[in-house]
Amino acid sequence: MIEAKEIVRGLECSRFGRKAYTFETIDSTNNCARTLAECDAPEGALVFAEEQTAGKGRSGRTWVARPGENLTFSIVLRPAFPPEQINLFPLGVAVAVAEGIHRSTGLTVECKWPNDLMLAGRKCAGILMESALAGNGFAYIILGIGINVNQREFPEALRERATSLALHAGHDLDRTGILQGVLGSLERAYDTYTASGFQGVLPAWLARAQMIGARVAVDMQGSIVNGTVTGISPEGGLQLHTATGDLTLFAGDVTIVTMDPYAPRN
Ligand code: BTN
Repeated sequence: MIEAKEIVRGLECSRFGRKAYTFETIDSTNNCARTLAECDAPEGALVFAEEQTAGKGRSGRTWVARPGENLTFSIVLRPAFPPEQINLFPLGVAVAVAEGIHRSTGLTVECKWPNDLMLAGRKCAGILMESALAGNGFAYIILGIGINVNQREFPEALRERATSLALHAGHDLDRTGILQGVLGSLERAYDTYTASGFQGVLPAWLARAQMIGARVAVDMQGSIVNGTVTGISPEGGLQLHTATGDLTLFAGDVTIVTMDPYAPRN
């Protein structure tokens, strides 16, 4: 089990993870972080669990991860930026998590709108944000992150869509080092957005995305929109060309049907 003092000892940042709560088993680290946030926990407070019994994914799904093999954690944020800018924030978080993974493992993960992280077309990490407003701003945002690190077997329903860092590295990876790397990248990115705004988010995200030009199906709470991705709007929306015209979407689950055959591959 990863202990709080082990996380804190190797941190390269000053706030994220300095106050750390670790659990063997919990329902959801997001639920616990929310309770802490309601009780005035400081910004950067971290909740980490080896096992979640009711891990939450986006769009009401569950997040399933084998105990002791992965990273499932949540961070309390108290953002100063206005709620109108929230659509760009998930993209910035995805880039920061990708950078933290790259620095700590050497693996290059790709970004899939809005904030999934992918390796060779399969999901290796997901991000769930939950927020509460106070007046014109945020009381807090709970940033929940699940990274498949050393898991090698996935349930039947996920087998074609999920992967882990270890499956791509070819060996087990140090979970504590990855957590510390991601916390460091997140704190630096967050401080940049807070001080200078979100103008750097889109180029950084696009440099890690391979879905521009792809044909996609977007599930919007049961209604499916088919189209070709033409870009990301300045506000962080997914721009699509469809048979009935051009659209910008701000929510939905994207399935890539075919990649752009003319896009350069690395
Ligand atoms: C997604 O659906 O892609 C988002 C997954 C987010 C999972 C993480 S695991 C830690 C935190 N606690 C939760 O209950 N969910 C998030």
